[in-house]
Amino acid sequence: MGEPINVPLLDLSAQNQPLAAELKAAFARVLDSSQFILGPEVAGFESVAAESVGAKHAIGVSSGTDALLLSLMTLGIGPGDEVLCPSFTFFATAGAIARTGATPVFVDSIDTDFNIDLAAAAGRVTDKTKAIIPVHLFGQAADMDGVQRLAKEHDLAVLEDAAQSMGATFGGQSVGTMGDLGAFSFFPSKNLGGFGDGGMITTDDDDLAKRARILRVHGGAPKYYHKAIGGNFRMDPLHAALLGVKLGHFPGYLATRRANAAQYLERLAKCDHVAEGRLVLPAEIEGRGHTWNQFTLRVANGKRDALQAHLAANNIGSAIYYPVALHQQECFAHLPNFGEVLPVCEKMAGEVLSIPIYPELTEEQLGHVADTLANAPL
Ligand SMILES: Cc1ncc(COP(=O)(O)O)c(C=O)c1O
Repeated sequence: MGEPINVPLLDLSAQNQPLAAELKAAFARVLDSSQFILGPEVAGFESVAAESVGAKHAIGVSSGTDALLLSLMTLGIGPGDEVLCPSFTFFATAGAIARTGATPVFVDSIDTDFNIDLAAAAGRVTDKTKAIIPVHLFGQAADMDGVQRLAKEHDLAVLEDAAQSMGATFGGQSVGTMGDLGAFSFFPSKNLGGFGDGGMITTDDDDLAKRARILRVHGGAPKYYHKAIGGNFRMDPLHAALLGVKLGHFPGYLATRRANAAQYLERLAKCDHVAEGRLVLPAEIEGRGHTWNQFTLRVANGKRDALQAHLAANNIGSAIYYPVALHQQECFAHLPNFGEVLPVCEKMAGEVLSIPIYPELTEEQLGHVADTLANAPL
């Protein structure tokens, strides 16, 4: 018997070790500069990142969560306001809304792309609704035509949660450039994975960019003179320098994620589990440049836990993003739509399973995952 094939859910060292010399040089540059707060490294990263995304402004911040919170603060969202968001997303989307004092209003999703259902969103608009946060979940854009129509009709601000989808497009336009503001995450597992927490806000609006930059440093403008209350939301120069190295390789990472997804789709489409509806493959919707931050299956016959155990027994990592929809989270028990039935979100929470899709997967690893899935006792 040959060596067992291991396929972790994510292998950061496979991506970062080949860049060790470049990363160490960037570290040394920052060490030698002794500039550890903002300054040219952050400004340099912002300018390259803005160009990469196609936005006029990029503002480096401390995390994707802070990118959302700072964006909402920049839009002036606060107590008394309602903000629409999907219930099936990472917690930060709704957590940021609640932290401004506004009310998250949870909306059901569509199971073909895992993203917000805009017909359902339209039914949730009230005279208090001020904004909508479409989340481009798992690397694929939400229906931004629908978002823009709804926003226009009801005069809503649009904050794109692009944490998982840097590089994705909708009708050729990059995520994070279609709404008023875009929020990105550089958490290590993201498309542009950093070396700790980090994030970015994008916008084409000069006034919003100016306001976000002021709120990023406690709202002081000039320093020590405060017309507004902000926070410490700064990106570190060290992180900006390291991220700048990774950004140079970003198009290659995206291309390989897409190639891996294409292979999975081709190989798995042929298996009985898919043909007979026990396993549902993720769909790439036409006109959306999916970036495959996650490759998320749905296990439609109630055997998700058994499948996950089967993968683990074959040395394959997997994860459930997300096991509980946000309208069912205890911390939101005081909200009007806590405990309501949002059927698609609840169904997805019970079915989803994400498998390894990182760019450095080898042919052999990918084949092992595909074969193990095809032969699973489902
Ligand atoms: C959809 C979504 N929004 C927001 C965030 C928050 O980003 P971060 O972990 O960088 O704070 C994440 C990341 O985990 C996310 O997946």
